[in-house]
Amino acid sequence: MNAVTTTRLDIEKIRTQFPILNQQVNGKPLVYLDNAATNQKPKRVIDALTTYYERDNANIHRGIHTLAERATKAYEQTRHAMQQFIHAKHVEEIIFTRGVTESINLVASSYGRAFLKEGDEVIISGLEHHSNIVPWQMICEEKKAILKVIPVTDIGEIDLRAFHQLLSATTKIVAVNHASNSLGTINPIEEIIEAAHTHGAIVLIDGAQAAAHLHIDVQELDCDFYCISSHKMYGPTGTGILYGKKELFERMPPYMGGGEMIKEVTFAKTTYNDLPYKFEAGTPNIADVIALNEAIQFINELGKDNIAAHENELLSYTCKKLLSIPSVKLVGTANEKVSVQSFVIDGIHHFDIGQMLDTRGIAVRTGHHCAQPIMQRFNVPATSRASFAFYNKKSEVDALVAGIKNVQKIFL
Ligand SMILES: Cc1ncc(COP(=O)(O)O)c(C=O)c1O
Repeated sequence: MNAVTTTRLDIEKIRTQFPILNQQVNGKPLVYLDNAATNQKPKRVIDALTTYYERDNANIHRGIHTLAERATKAYEQTRHAMQQFIHAKHVEEIIFTRGVTESINLVASSYGRAFLKEGDEVIISGLEHHSNIVPWQMICEEKKAILKVIPVTDIGEIDLRAFHQLLSATTKIVAVNHASNSLGTINPIEEIIEAAHTHGAIVLIDGAQAAAHLHIDVQELDCDFYCISSHKMYGPTGTGILYGKKELFERMPPYMGGGEMIKEVTFAKTTYNDLPYKFEAGTPNIADVIALNEAIQFINELGKDNIAAHENELLSYTCKKLLSIPSVKLVGTANEKVSVQSFVIDGIHHFDIGQMLDTRGIAVRTGHHCAQPIMQRFNVPATSRASFAFYNKKSEVDALVAGIKNVQKIFL
């Protein structure tokens, strides 16, 4: 587990900026521990949405009137903020998408369709979300390429030795997550990227669970693609980004055709727009992209080191408390983790756990977490998962533990 340092965040003050947290659910104060599914939005993100629709709403890029210019400027400001957030070299390397799912599908469809050949290999890991499995299965089937899977160890880490053995001259794409949504494992992506590159493969990183917690420097990582969802980093749903190296994006065909992604259209031939617009067909999710900038600034102001220190402390505390409860078993105990803990309770169905906790206002996720293969790996149909944000507190972990003891009293 990561080193635990003393937190410097004023949690009570931070919580006042999240209106949703200040409510009762089933007569109890809300304890929101489902942050890996989506985290809550600070007021400034919500205000940015309202302000956009009350003051600036207009379609972007094509209009020359004041509202269109305001909307375009704010939209492009988020692109610059995201460039800095992940330290991309060029602003046109940031493509707005609907989120990680669309970002991965874009790469699988565009890059995969253009460059994969029969017999080529794509490597993913056993720890992936369905979003980083199914698009690769689809393109591999279409191109008669082969999908290989890195096995996962008993504590929920990628088996690096096995990964190195899977790599060969036929490996063309490696796609892994930065941090796992089901177990919280932080993967050694630096080593994975370097090894893949020595075999001439390109690397896509699914950063869905990393953006709110970990430092991301795409130039230092040297990854070829990096995917982020806004709604998992305190921004609105329905948007996110695909980072890609400029030279790769320039070689790739468009993903979707339509307005905005063209230079000139005739019935004989269409020429495509420059980056990033070549990959942004149609009217984008303008309001949510603009509000995402507020989420980026919010995280920047808190500081990722402070966030990690607080969340690591919560995770350690949670693990210690859960382990002290008889018949609770932790699933996923990797050495490096983001603040996600899956667990099962012998003899109690995950659905009952989730439902009983909800009666006490406690929101955890139960099920397969869109990661069925890792459930199969651990021989469980599902887990319960508590996942933390910087606004969570130890007293909420105590509420979870009391809730679990109460479930045991009822069902065991
Ligand atoms: C690791 C991981 N990858 C991909 C996704 C898909 O993200 P989205 O639904 O925002 O496209 C998720 C969402 O839970 C995730 O946790």
